[in-house]
Amino acid sequence: MSVIISPASVAEAPARPLSPLAQHVADGLRREPKTLSSMYFYDDAGSRLFQQIMALPEYYPTRTELAIFREQGAAIVAALGGAGDPADFSLVELGAGDGAKTKVLLRELLAVNPAVTYAPVDISAGAMSGLVQTLSRELPALRVVPVVETYAEALRQLRTRPGRKAVLFLGSNIGNFGPAEQLDFLRQLAEPLGPDDRLLIGFDLRKDPRRIRAAYDDAQGVTAAFNLNLLTRLNRELGADFDLAHWQHYTDYNPLNGAVRSFLVSTRAQHVHLAALNENVEFGPWEAIHTENSYKFSLPQIEALAAQVGLRIAEVFSDAAGDFADVVLAARPVGC
Ligand code: AVI
Repeated sequence: MSVIISPASVAEAPARPLSPLAQHVADGLRREPKTLSSMYFYDDAGSRLFQQIMALPEYYPTRTELAIFREQGAAIVAALGGAGDPADFSLVELGAGDGAKTKVLLRELLAVNPAVTYAPVDISAGAMSGLVQTLSRELPALRVVPVVETYAEALRQLRTRPGRKAVLFLGSNIGNFGPAEQLDFLRQLAEPLGPDDRLLIGFDLRKDPRRIRAAYDDAQGVTAAFNLNLLTRLNRELGADFDLAHWQHYTDYNPLNGAVRSFLVSTRAQHVHLAALNENVEFGPWEAIHTENSYKFSLPQIEALAAQVGLRIAEVFSDAAGDFADVVLAARPVGC
């Protein structure tokens, strides 16, 4: 399928440097196949839709991980080393969101270590202030040190954080990275870990392919609205004129490699003007924009991933059906 991106008018070429979103969209829509990152799903409307997704009957990961924490929270805290020397232990959470699941662990942790520091990391100052307020109301004894930064910057700061730490990356957010990015991210997480530090990573496990597919194509159409909201965002923020009546959400699951891929499909030939880019983009009939990966994992695959970045599995906490796993990882001793 040919990709035609044409300047709308050479005379009106934008003078100012492009915003990160505009640059991303310019690059992504020039690719073959066209690609946009799910990172940009989460404007205010997208974040609200994701909250609704997490409560959908088809979307099992959130409630399964919450049940793991409720049932095995004390053992998880022990595996993270939270019950050790109380003075110097911090729990760092990447992508803390509303903290609903983490609060369960934090309660367990406070019971054995009232001196714990919780350092949630989120790029959104708004989301962070909501979380800090909730925590001060619900867990007033907890010491909270919020970090409003990108993951890259937060990981850089981790290197100099004193004391023992456990780093959380929950919700199978790791599945939104492609295989090469998963390794790269895990490597960055592994690098600042001392021998007593731990990682806790939530992995959505492989299961009945039909259940997985349904989780990303729910009957009420909330996931479709979540995906399509990206175009609404581009209309608003980049002055684009995507006509949502001619786009649809489509998702597939490949049980061979564990990849759920979501797409926005153009239901007819059309062109879209993006004022912020001063460009027109042509879409062929049924041409798709790839918007999200949500990889599913097997335990041997997690073990292999960990080994490739110098980590070992310390403990696995899973539900009885084996739908989801919260895996505690530790640095491999040198020479192993
Ligand atoms: C945030 N992330 C782990 C979700 C997932 O399952 O990939 C985002 C999501 N996309 C569609 N539904 C949920």
